[in-house]
Amino acid sequence: MPKKANILIISVLITLFSVYNIFIYTSQDCKQPIKLSIKASKGQQLWQNNNCWSCHQVYGLGGYLGPDLTNVYSSPNKGESYIKAFLNSGVKTMPKFNFSEEEKDAIVLYLKHIDSTGYFPNYDANLHKTGWVELKYKNEK
Ligand code: HEC
Repeated sequence: MPKKANILIISVLITLFSVYNIFIYTSQDCKQPIKLSIKASKGQQLWQNNNCWSCHQVYGLGGYLGPDLTNVYSSPNKGESYIKAFLNSGVKTMPKFNFSEEEKDAIVLYLKHIDSTGYFPNYDANLHKTGWVELKYKNEK
């Protein structure tokens, strides 16, 4: 094939790739702001500073010593006091954290916020032609 044709094909591919990316990253789904209250972001800070990540997952990502906590807030028989009980006493494999009431509230709020964003595992996923995966969200407007 002549060299010119190759250059043309590559240019077309690069152009299509760019258009595709602009479309994907400017579509509505990417623009939704993350609404984390001040207290919930304090909880996020505590979550990071105390390495909850090293043992727990959110949406399946994180360490695997403990369970996934995406929906711990809304799971039947779990929720606020259940989470606090773990933070208060720890278990054999989870350290006891000496958090103040305020700090525990912040962590609970953070987990509540995570919970409100969706389900894990999520069996309700739709694959669009654009490659976008639409998940079932909670509190959808
Ligand atoms: C060293 C590993 C480790 C760290 C660090 C850790 N955890 Fe855990 N956590 C565990 C394990 C293991 C369990 C499961 C214990 C069980 O069920 O017997 C658990 C259970 C929990 C549960 C109950 C989950 C459920 O569905 O039953 C919550 C809530 C929790 N941890 C929150 C936290 C938070 C918040 C932090 C950070 C401040 C944290 N953990 C840090 C290991 C850890």
